Amino acid sequence: MKKVKNICCIGAGYVGGPTMAVIAQKCPSINVTVVDINEARIAAWNDENVENIPIYEPGLSEVVAEARGRNLFFSTEVDDAIAKAEIIFIAVNTPTKTYGVGKGMAADLKWIELCARQIARVSVTDKIVVEKSTLPVKTANALKSILENTGNGVKFQILSNPEFLAEGTAVADLMNPDRVLIGGDVDTIEGKAAVETLVNIYAKWVDRDRILMTNVWSSELSKLTANSFLAQRVSSINAMSELCEETGADVNEVAKAIGMDSRIGSKFLKSSVGFGGSCFQKDILNLVYISKTLGLNEVADYWEQVIIMNDHQKRRFAMNIVKTLFNTVSGKRIALLGWAFKKDTNDTRESAAIYVADYLLSEHAEVVVYDPKVKEEQVYADMDYLGTRSEAEIRDLLTVVNDPYEAFEDAHAIAVLTEWDEFKAYDWNKIYEQMLKPAFVFDGRNVLDINTLSEIGFVASGIGVASSKKK
Ligand code: UDX
Ligand code: UDX
Repeated sequence: MKKVKNICCIGAGYVGGPTMAVIAQKCPSINVTVVDINEARIAAWNDENVENIPIYEPGLSEVVAEARGRNLFFSTEVDDAIAKAEIIFIAVNTPTKTYGVGKGMAADLKWIELCARQIARVSVTDKIVVEKSTLPVKTANALKSILENTGNGVKFQILSNPEFLAEGTAVADLMNPDRVLIGGDVDTIEGKAAVETLVNIYAKWVDRDRILMTNVWSSELSKLTANSFLAQRVSSINAMSELCEETGADVNEVAKAIGMDSRIGSKFLKSSVGFGGSCFQKDILNLVYISKTLGLNEVADYWEQVIIMNDHQKRRFAMNIVKTLFNTVSGKRIALLGWAFKKDTNDTRESAAIYVADYLLSEHAEVVVYDPKVKEEQVYADMDYLGTRSEAEIRDLLTVVNDPYEAFEDAHAIAVLTEWDEFKAYDWNKIYEQMLKPAFVFDGRNVLDINTLSEIGFVASGIGVASSKKK
């Protein structure tokens, strides 16, 4: 088995950054270099003030502060880092294709292929190449073919080691994972040795019985399956939320009642304005695309419904606001609390807030956004990325504030879109005083459930809660 002295990770994003920081912290004798083509991102990772690293995750800056400069390095010298490493992790982005065959469904593997070609070109010693990015099943075949046919004759072992960390709890998930999954060519001696090399790294802090070894395809497909199952639970409870609102049942009570069934379990049953994040939608689309490609139309339709339900929930939430505000929001000030796709992250990819804002702008509302960790430019970039309206129109109708109380002044409604803890600590009675009456609070993520609102006198003040109570 190989002695590992240097690890390289290509991609200093939400996955690569935290994962490598924890490996470096737990394995002080291994040098871990995270490389990225984005110079600004690398500069931010190297910022003297560790609070300025580009990714916000609870506990991450402490881990980086401990390991950075000791055995954790961030660099744009990609070739150098590849050449030195015995293990190379690929953690570059694999967004949904926006062009050509599979547009809107298949993963764009452009970056993965570029990485493979670069590794092949630079390597003069044997390497273990680890897929960290979520990839369609059988991508390892493509990687293998590129590495073996364009390389310098060195040997490559390809492993799949999908990341199960959730943003907002990335460090805790990495420190104490439910399981670590490593897929490799377990039928060959070389494949087994490569798997064992990676197992030994994780075994520095993870119990061996939590480290699963499978073949590459099982590992790749397990990641897509895990995310699809999780997203399906959210869509299932969100489907029930609409039925609850129509019938007078309370979706939180239903969730609690079914969650206590140990066969169902209590997690991922929080009704919401819809799931977001870089993974759920992309991974399900991937699964749908693979199924369609294989002619498995029923399988494809089954999973696609999870996305259809999610899109419906986002639109329904926005339309609920319009309906409650007497069927018109034109010229009305609506404050959106939260822009990130969940609390404790500054990641906004596929955040439901983006879609809710877009629907409200279509109705000519005046939208004011406040998020504790998302920067103004990111909000505008997200709206711009949707491509539904001009930049001038967006900037005219949507403003971003740094002080939440600025957003509440004369607002007709507040919609809580991310469950940030700080929102619970606000003086809601004072906020109510600032708003135009009749004022409404829409609770998209169940952060302020109806019971909490009663306690602070909200219901008494006549504020409606769209998602928890039938109007
Ligand atoms: C990525 C993938 O999106 C996801 O599918 C996978 O599961 C884990 O890796 P994430 O880390 O969240 O997730 O992506 P992102 O924050 O966009 O980071 C990717 C980084 O790779 C970016 O900083 C980008 O600049 C970098 N990159 C991309 C390279 O360094 N080289 C490339 O060729 C392409
Ligand atoms: C997910 C997986 O959990 C993780 O294992 C994988 O590696 C990457 O994808 P992430 O997208 O970071 O992680 O966040 P997650 O906590 O899964 O939440 C995804 C979305 O679902 C969020 O928008 C969240 O608000 C929403 N959600 C989650 C609900 O609406 N209700 C719930 O009960 C749980």
